[in-house]
Amino acid sequence: MKRLFLCLMAMVSVLSLTAQNAFEGEVMNTIMARRSVRKYLDKPVEHEKLEAIALAGINAPSARNWQYWAVRIIEDYKLIADVSEVYKQANPEAVSREPGFKNMFRGAPNLICVCAPKDGGFDLDAGLMGENMMLAAQSLGLGTCIQTGPVRFLLQSEGAKPFLQRLDIPDGYKLLYVIAVGYPDEKPDAKPRDASKVKFIGGEISKEASDDDGLFIDYFEKAQFPGGDEACMKWLQEHIKYPEGYTSNQPQGKVVVSFIVEKDGSLDGIKVMKSPDPLLSEEAIRVVREMPKWKPAHQYFPPPRQGSEAVRSRFFLPVIFKQP
Ligand SMILES: Cc1cc2nc3c(=O)[nH]c(=O)nc-3n(C[C@H](O)[C@H](O)[C@H](O)COP(=O)(O)O)c2cc1C
Repeated sequence: MKRLFLCLMAMVSVLSLTAQNAFEGEVMNTIMARRSVRKYLDKPVEHEKLEAIALAGINAPSARNWQYWAVRIIEDYKLIADVSEVYKQANPEAVSREPGFKNMFRGAPNLICVCAPKDGGFDLDAGLMGENMMLAAQSLGLGTCIQTGPVRFLLQSEGAKPFLQRLDIPDGYKLLYVIAVGYPDEKPDAKPRDASKVKFIGGEISKEASDDDGLFIDYFEKAQFPGGDEACMKWLQEHIKYPEGYTSNQPQGKVVVSFIVEKDGSLDGIKVMKSPDPLLSEEAIRVVREMPKWKPAHQYFPPPRQGSEAVRSRFFLPVIFKQP
């Protein structure tokens, strides 16, 4: 068998060994990178970017495509400043708890106000468009924070009426939530997610797992090859081989192998998710089967339950084949 050169292309970072972008998943990366931002630079968002965000919003699904929503994007800094002054007067304590208070929308320079019919029947549609917009903003290098807290104030306060009037909300609609948007001045850590809320019904994985031993699809410490991503690449370089008779004319490229890292670090359910060639698939599976035990993923528990424990996790490992 001819020795195979397994190369990592220069732009493929160690992160490429994670599930997030195993499928060149830019969307997945964007979802995982989005965090609520509560500190912004004093730099307005370019109008074109706001237009792109709005476009992403209105392309969200809606029941029967009725699009029962109304979006108001505020580029008028003074409008935000004026209503924030009203808020400040009414809530001096809350403001004093926010060091460097800039405005009542977490200090963002721009604001997206999402309105929905008053009867509440289409809040779900309005919510879906919000996530579209936040992800679009994230992909444009912006930060966001969806907020309902300020909406309660806006709807109750006499002093906030001029603000609401400027929004020109259609009859029969209410302001449902706002999204602060701007250039982030902080990089918040991911908050814990309780992946045990997800259960798979039927299918290969759930047959293997008992009820309280579900497959965790989100965790804070991912499963790891012993020694980390670089050690994993090195190990692959040393162990992978081109199949017999394989010529440079045949397809090269990336085989994405998926497997479960069990709690004890052993690998199970190894399968190929994406491959340019069956021979490369076979080799990728063979080499993963030979891998030493991994460090399992760890799930962290939010209070009141705290601490962490090893959990089963699915891992997506891209293996790049390239002829010397
Ligand atoms: C319906 C809703 C209302 C929210 N209201 C506020 C708010 O008033 N103020 C705020 O700072 N964050 C608000 N958030 C943001 C959440 O606190 C945040 O999404 C959550 O803590 C998870 O953090 P992450 O977005 O960084 O993943 C709201 C989120 C949702 C979905």
